[in-house]
Amino acid sequence: MVNKEEIYPELITYVTELMQGNGYAPGVLCNITAALHDALPHYFWVGFYVVRDGELHLGPFQGPVACYRIKKGRGVCGTAWAKAATVVVPDVDQFPGHIACSSLSRSEIVVPIISDGEVVAIIDVDSRDLNAFDATDQHYLEQLACLLASTTLFAT
Ligand code: SME
Repeated sequence: MVNKEEIYPELITYVTELMQGNGYAPGVLCNITAALHDALPHYFWVGFYVVRDGELHLGPFQGPVACYRIKKGRGVCGTAWAKAATVVVPDVDQFPGHIACSSLSRSEIVVPIISDGEVVAIIDVDSRDLNAFDATDQHYLEQLACLLASTTLFAT
């Protein structure tokens, strides 16, 4: 069993270094999802949806093929966007309107990235296990979202 409390602080440091790599923004975001996916076995799918033209659009991710666009208020991602707040779903079958990109996903956490008071993107993580995400995941993913919000990685 992985000790999340130990792994997340190291990951935040690593991801901060990756952000400073000064690369092409989609490449940097791909590397961030790869680092998270590799380090945390409960991450089945991890990626970004980016706000463009009034919808969430699929961004860099690791995991199975996912849907391209999500409207505000739809699914877990669109709900986190509309509320501008983290949404933790212990059992996706109990979340009305959940969008099932993979039938293997059982639980999910979505964290908004808020820059100048606006949601510019969301971080979405799916697990194959029920109840996979707790306050530790939420704490560090929100820290990551704050770090990302202070960059130009989602600039139009
Ligand atoms: N389950 C999400 C859709 C995105 S996939 O999980 C990658 C939702 O309900 O918004």
